[in-house]
Formats: sequence, C-alpha cells, structure tokens
Amino acid sequence: MQLASVAPSSASSLSKQVLQRKRFKILGEHESNSNFHKEDKVKLLRFLAPPFVAAVIALSPISNPPVSVGQTLDVQKGATLFRRACIGCHDAGGNIIQPGATLFLKDLQRNGVDTEEEIYRVTYYGKGRMPGFGENCTPRGQCTFGARLQEDEIKLLAQFVKSQADQGWPKIETQGD
Ligand code: HEC
Repeated sequence: MQLASVAPSSASSLSKQVLQRKRFKILGEHESNSNFHKEDKVKLLRFLAPPFVAAVIALSPISNPPVSVGQTLDVQKGATLFRRACIGCHDAGGNIIQPGATLFLKDLQRNGVDTEEEIYRVTYYGKGRMPGFGENCTPRGQCTFGARLQEDEIKLLAQFVKSQADQGWPKIETQGD
C-alpha cells in the first residue's frame, strides 16, 4: 500500500492524503448508496492502525475535512443524541438511578470511566443497571430495549460526555427536538 512509503516526518500531509481519499470515496459513492458508504467508512477506520487514526483525528482541525470521521466535536449533535438516548437517567450529567455514578468528572474518575474509550465502552455494552446501546451489544439482557446507536454516534456521545464533564456540564441549548 502506498501509505507505508511516506516518511514519518510528513504525517500531516499523509493524513491530508487519507482525508482527501476519504472525501473522494464519499463523493464517489454518495449518490449511489449512502448506507454502503457509512459501512465502508467504518471498515476503512478499522483497517487503519489505531495510532494512525489518532494522528488523523489530532491533525484534522488543520486540514478541516468536510467528513464526519475525525472532525472536531459537534456539540449540537452530541447534545441532541444525549437528549434522545441518555437524558432519561443522566439529566444535566446526573444519575437518577445510581447517585454515585454521575457523569461529573469526580465520579467518572473514581469509577475509572474518565476517558473517551471507557465512556464509549460503558455506552456500547452497558454496566450494572446501565443498558448498552451498541448495535452488537451482548448479552441481550444488558442492552437497551430501545433503538441501538451507530458506532459513530456512540463515539460522538463519548466525546460529548467527556467534554461536558471537563467543563462541569454547562447547559446547552438544542434546537428542533
Ligand atoms: C436506564 C437508565 C440509563 C440510561 C438511559 C443511560 N444510563 Fe448511563 N448509567 C446508568 C446507570 C445505572 C449507571 C451506573 C452503572 C454502574 O456503575 O453500575 C450509568 C453509568 C454511566 C456512565 C459511567 C458513570 C460513572 O460515573 O461511573 C457513563 C459514562 C454513562 N452511564 C453514559 C451514558 C450515556 C452516554 C447514555 C446514553 C447513550 C446513558 N448512559 C444512558 C443508567 C443509564
């Protein structure tokens, strides 16, 4: 593959190349079948080594790609998703079922859930009386009976929750929901 031949010092242009390629891919497939393009994007992400993905995400604000993967946090979108799936138990970052497991930094830290990765995992698979929302969440009894969430939605939620926790859960106005 061509990627391997690029020198490490040009990581920035490398990530641009990849984003460029992704953009190209999306433009190419967008009209024919948008579902397929979503799956394809996920596959592409899995295929790339995690450290490299991290580099792409870290560098993406510079190249400002018009794609959803690796973009900076969309607070409005995160807030809307949170309202839809999480607010019933976690209104304003609290926890009406288990007061010691709020989404405030202090609890997240004490419970070892203060990274995006851990928040993603808990949201995907659930934990205790928290149901999992991932499409492949198992066992069934640990998962929500409601609508499942896409991986990129859970990723966005994890970023949103982490960012809100870091800021002490400021109020966010959302429109149209
Ligand atoms: C039915 C109620 C319910 C819903 C809906 C719910 N949660 Fe939870 N959540 C819980 C409970 C209960 C816990 C504590 C689980 C435990 O530690 O055993 C928890 C824990 C968490 C934690 C870890 C908090 C900590 O301090 O340990 C995170 C992160 C979290 N939830 C995120 C979410 C997100 C994101 C959503 C929306 C997709 C969501 N939750 C929806 C009930 C819920």
